[in-house]
Parts: sequence; C-alpha cells; structure tokens
Amino acid sequence: MPVRVLPTQPYPDQKSGTAGLRKKVTVFQQPHYLENFLQAIFDVETTLHGCTLIIGGDGRYHNRVAIRTAVAMAAGNGIAKVIVGQGGILSTPAASNLIRIHDAAGGLLLTASHNPAGPDGDFGIKFNIAGGGQAPEALTGRIFDASKTLSRYRIFEGAAVDLDRLGSQTLGDTVIEVIDSVDDYAKLQQSLFDFEQIRDWFTRGGRICFDAMHAVTGPYARRILIEQLGAPESSVINAIPLEDFGGGHPDPNLIYAKHLLELAMTPDAPDLIAASDGDGDRNMILGRGLFISPGDSLAMLAAHLDRLPGYKSGLKGLARSMPTCRAVDVVAKARGLECHETPTGWKFFANLLDANRLTLCGEESFGTSSSHTREKDGLWAVLAWANVLAVTGKSVQQIASEHWAQYGRHYYVRHDYDELPTATANGIVDRLRNTLPSLVGGQFGDWTVTQADEFSYTDPVDGSVATAQGLRIVFGDAARIILRLSGTGTEGATIRLYLERYERAADRLGWTTTDALAPLAAIADQLIRINELSGREGPSVVT
Ligand code: G1P
Ligand code: ZN
Repeated sequence: MPVRVLPTQPYPDQKSGTAGLRKKVTVFQQPHYLENFLQAIFDVETTLHGCTLIIGGDGRYHNRVAIRTAVAMAAGNGIAKVIVGQGGILSTPAASNLIRIHDAAGGLLLTASHNPAGPDGDFGIKFNIAGGGQAPEALTGRIFDASKTLSRYRIFEGAAVDLDRLGSQTLGDTVIEVIDSVDDYAKLQQSLFDFEQIRDWFTRGGRICFDAMHAVTGPYARRILIEQLGAPESSVINAIPLEDFGGGHPDPNLIYAKHLLELAMTPDAPDLIAASDGDGDRNMILGRGLFISPGDSLAMLAAHLDRLPGYKSGLKGLARSMPTCRAVDVVAKARGLECHETPTGWKFFANLLDANRLTLCGEESFGTSSSHTREKDGLWAVLAWANVLAVTGKSVQQIASEHWAQYGRHYYVRHDYDELPTATANGIVDRLRNTLPSLVGGQFGDWTVTQADEFSYTDPVDGSVATAQGLRIVFGDAARIILRLSGTGTEGATIRLYLERYERAADRLGWTTTDALAPLAAIADQLIRINELSGREGPSVVT
C-alpha cells in the first residue's frame, strides 16, 4: 500500500490570514512544515474526501516541490480527482474559475501574491472553498487549531506525478489531471468581452503595453492579447515567469511599477498601459499621460460595463471596501444601483456575489473583479478597459475627463507606515479612537466633520458582524481621512492612512493629487500625529 502515514511535529505558527499562510521559503523548507499544514486542511475540510481538488501556484521558487507534495498528499487523503495546472502554474483568478467550473470541493493556491520570491523570498498557501472563494475565518481558525496538535500526515509514496505532461495520470485511486493553465481562463474572458471588437481596435492601431512583471500572468496575457486578440508581440513585456520574479517586486503600483508611469508620460505612449501582480489578481491601469487610481478605475468601469457582452443585461450592484474612494458610489447613485461598503478583504464581496447582489467590486489596493469569479482578477480588469476603449472609440484620458466632468473627481492617496513596533502602531490607533467622539462637528478650513467612528459591518446576506474595521473621519461628501492597521503584514505592524477629497467644479478637476490632498494631509497630521508618534519622517510607501 503506497499510502503511508508518517510522523510530523506540529508548528505553532501556522495561522493563516485572509491571504493564506505566508512565510519565508526557509520556513516552508523545515521538516514536514508544508505537510503539517496541508494535513490540517485535509483533516478539517472533510468535504474534500472523494471529491475534486484544484492545485496550482504562481510559479515562484519552491512552487514545483510544494505542488508535488500537495498532489501526493491529496492522493494520500482520499481525494478522488486532482486538477493541476501544467508545470504547477495557475493564476489566482484562474484557479478560482477552475473550482467553479469543475464543481470542485476546493483548491490549494500556492502563492505569496506580490511578495518577493526566490530562496530568500516568501512562499504561501491559500485554501479556497467550493464556489471559488477564500476560506472564511472560522475555517482558517479550525485549520490553525488542527495544525497545532497534528502528529501524523498521510502521503502517497512510490510514484511522482509528471507536472508537465498534459492528461490523466493516477496515484493509487486518485486521478491526477494535468491541464493547460490558460485554456479555461481564456474561454471565460472570451465569454465576457467582445474579442472581435478588441481585435479590431488593435487592427485600427490601438496599442497596449502589459507588464507581467516576470510573474504568473505572462502566459495568460500572451495567449489572450497576442495569440487571440492579435496584439503585436511587443505588447506583453516581462512575459516569462521566473522563480524569483526576476528579482523584482511584482506589485503593480506607483512604487514598484514606476517605469509604467514614466512610459505613460512619454509622447508616444501606448493607449493602454497595465500590469498585474505575482499571482495575477491585482491590476494597474494607465493611459497616455495619466494613471487611473484603482477607485477611479472601479467607478469608470461601473459607468461602462453594461456596454460589454457579459454585462449587457445590466449590473446587479456595486461594492467597494471602506477605505476605497467613494467615486463608485456616485455612479451607483446616478444609475440607481445598490452600492455596498465592505471591510477590507475580498471575502466580504464573495458573500454578496454568491447572493446575486453584486456585479462589480473593487479595492483601493489595485483589486478589481466581477461576478465571473470569486477572486480579484488582474487581467480581467485590463481586458475590460481594452473593451471599453474599443467600444467607445475614446482614449483613457477622454474616458477619465468625461467621467470627472459628469460625476466629479475623487483625489486619493494611501500612506503606509511599514514595520512599526506593534505597541507604537496600536498606540497611534488607540489614541485616535479615543479622540473620535470629540471631533464630530469640528471645523477644518472649509470642511466640517460630519462623522467620526470605527467602521463595523453587518453582512446583509448572513447577518454576521465584523467590528473594528478601521477608523474614519468623514467630512460629508467632501473628504475622508481613514486609518487602519494592515491585516497582512509579516513583520511588525503596518498602519495605513487613506486620504480622499471630492471636487465637482470644472476648475477643480485638473489638480495634481499631491496638491489636492495637501490640506487634508495637514489635517491628518494635526489629528493623528503619525510622524511624531512613530518617530518616522514620513510614510514608507505612498500609492
Ligand atoms: C491588503 C489590502 C487589501 C487586500 C489584502 C489582500 O490588506 O489593503 O485591500 O484585500 O491586502 O490582498 P491589508 O494589509 O491592508 O489588511
Ligand atoms: Zn496577488
């Protein structure tokens, strides 16, 4: 019997957050570390037994080793069928889609998103449930508990799966099907967008530059943009996924993809410039001469989406996370659509999507997606923009300025203070929390505080309540200052400060973000005193 039960020692640190279990590669390389965590999943999520499981990862260092182990343990734990992307590759949205179309009981996504990769970099595992969404907190909590007391794991030994050979193989009673990593994802996108129209746009001279940042979206972007839509070869850059992401930090934002902003500012810039992150769920959008903030991108897509084939029957509802700017709310109001404000993290959208209350949702952290999957989807957002440009015949610049003229403009920035001592970070947040009640009614320049509170959220679908989701100081529709602690950092504590200012008058739509937000930054400084209390000169990252 090649299924063996082997001893393991429990690890006390296998608590997974919204982003899964994320640790240094060297941590995952400890004896039975991966096995222990995987066995905890198999022990707790008993619905997997006898069912289908999807496995794939972002291609980073340690991906193949970990995927072989995961497949052998699936076979050791009575999984009937494992579907794995060729070479172990699946982007996060592609894996979510596979879970859905194969009615799988779950999926193992091996990724640490945009975190640096390589022998000294990070590794991670996320468990997604039936339906394609991220594991809820109650479930990750039970998996964590199980991981702390495990003494054995089950694995199929004696034969290894060939991850590169397409087709079926067996490990004992388990069928392993290696599939093309891109096929089903490309079909999904084709069902949502007008490929004919986008192809035509390229033929008429439309130009795109998509930066895969040497991460997982390379093969996806090449297949769809170049092979299927006919864009020239040069349209996809850094298209070869590398185990160390080329030494880069595949997080598409104004810091790590600054070169794209520089490209956008050149006179001969392509019409659409975009990038995705390590595992393909984030997106960044730029046009010739301008960067579209994620909150604006969400609002602009909301205003155009019903012109695209997959959304012609109309939008069910819109949603954004609380710190994301309120641009999408303005579109929702104008169009009479439901608009939800949820806590940070994709899982809150998934409930609304499952209940058919939502079509389009997004976060300020470069995440956008729709009802087609249960994860954010980087390439989806890029294709949506390409289709909007093709169907309207307008430039990104025109779409943006017309949008601002019609709905007003939200200037927006996020300041991150990384790796603060936990006590310092908590002290800053606690101090502001205590002063909130005294702020209401306060006058700051032209702005009056209309609301100052800690955000909590009651899920309209299941009634569950999430408390302590960030502090907000609201100046009516005119502005907001938001402060929250990051839930995903790996070292110390990270404070995020978000500034949002809304203007409608025609002569106030063309400011730079920095100029527009300077007065609000001064108010935030006066009220929160982050620099002073943290001993920092300024934020570590501004996006
Ligand atoms: C961050 C982002 C959040 C996103 C999450 C996972 O979480 O802010 O929008 O859902 O990463 O990608 P945070 O560190 O702020 O808790
Ligand atoms: Zn990601």
